[in-house]
Amino acid sequence: MSTSTNGAISRSIGASALSLYHLLDPDVLANPYPLFRRLRTEAPVQWDAFLHTWVVTRYVDVLEVLHTFSADRTHTPEKLRSLGLSEISPLAQLMVKQMLFMDPPAHTRLRSLASQAFSPARVAVLRSHIREIVNRLLDSVQNNGQMDIISDLGEPLPAIVTAEMLGVPPSDRQQLKAWSADFAEMLGNFQHNPEHAPRMLRTVQDMTAYFRDTIRRQKDIPQDGLVHSLMTAEVNGDRLSEEEVVANSIVTMVGGLETTTNLIGNGVLTLLRNPQELQRLRDDPSLVPSAVEEMLRYESPSQHTGRLAPEDVELGGKLIRKGQAVMAVMAAANRDPERFPDPDRFDVSRTENRHLAFGYAAHFCFGAALARVEGQEVFEAIIRRLPDLQLQPGPLVWRNNLGLRGLTALPVKFRASHSAN
Ligand code: HEM
Repeated sequence: MSTSTNGAISRSIGASALSLYHLLDPDVLANPYPLFRRLRTEAPVQWDAFLHTWVVTRYVDVLEVLHTFSADRTHTPEKLRSLGLSEISPLAQLMVKQMLFMDPPAHTRLRSLASQAFSPARVAVLRSHIREIVNRLLDSVQNNGQMDIISDLGEPLPAIVTAEMLGVPPSDRQQLKAWSADFAEMLGNFQHNPEHAPRMLRTVQDMTAYFRDTIRRQKDIPQDGLVHSLMTAEVNGDRLSEEEVVANSIVTMVGGLETTTNLIGNGVLTLLRNPQELQRLRDDPSLVPSAVEEMLRYESPSQHTGRLAPEDVELGGKLIRKGQAVMAVMAAANRDPERFPDPDRFDVSRTENRHLAFGYAAHFCFGAALARVEGQEVFEAIIRRLPDLQLQPGPLVWRNNLGLRGLTALPVKFRASHSAN
């Protein structure tokens, strides 16, 4: 669906109708927060007739949905057939095996096997390596006095880190990124785009073949990384099947690539729009960790997620029927004044910042510790190495993705320097 068609659909719904469908309008996508504010105050738990889902926007209600509702929301092949969507059945078959779309006990089993492979100690070891990669990427642009934050830093950093974390060759990273972008387009959007289905299916086939091949090769020559750890992880004699290793390597790859780029891009943009806060950070770099949390709250890279009601539930005075779809809008909850004083103010030293940008409860982001380290290293290096940072003139273009919020490009200039890091 093209952007102009999206805009026309959104307008045809009517400007006053309170629906998340308005995100299809590029102006709303550029600044969704007034729409979220209206939803939170006028209809915090709302049946969205255009999307056929409940939309939940207040912090307490989003917390409740993430805590107690079902994540097992992938359509069965029969259901897809009844919706006329059988063509995307291979995609659904992959998603069913991913931890993101499972409830206990299947989720608990998968998550505990996967977390054996991804300990916080391992992430801590990665920190100095991540610092090296960030510095290498900045070395190649520092003399130019200008760069695109997305293509020069935001995309390559997580692509290199994710390839290494998986234990696949970092030279494959552009291919991984292209697959991941396709998958993310489907994950983040709620409109089905029949024109994109053939490409999506090819991507699923190619990614699956790539990880099957990786598994086969690593049986002979193990590589340090998540794929091999998933192949060998064992809890009480229980192991993952090859299909499970493939599906969860893919969900981790997409999780690692798409959102971290957006944390970097959205974070730099927010600092540039709030120069006093950027100056505070330059004056006191010990604020970098709290600044990264504030970036996650203020411009959440992952704006919403889906669940199903596990039974008839009353939420915010509304009766949600068993099996009905619910969209929990973390980005709206993260601006809820009931939870965050002065929520539309970006404050790099905000304390008590228990945002929901990484989700909550059982599905709390598996890679949060890694994403935090990447964000902290990037912003520490940016304030140290890029003086007089400014936006280049020109329009900002947001990715055509309603759930994974990020820019297509972010050209900036700064005072060029020849100093080493
Ligand atoms: C700024 C960066 C990131 C953000 C904002 C983010 C956000 C999220 C959110 C909101 C969820 C929960 C979704 C839900 O409940 O439906 C999630 C889950 C997940 N994330 Fe992240 N993520 C980030 C980075 C990463 C990284 C670096 C990895 C890989 C190492 C990763 C892998 C995953 C996985 C595998 C899950 C599924 C966990 C489960 O279902 O138990 N994410 N992430």
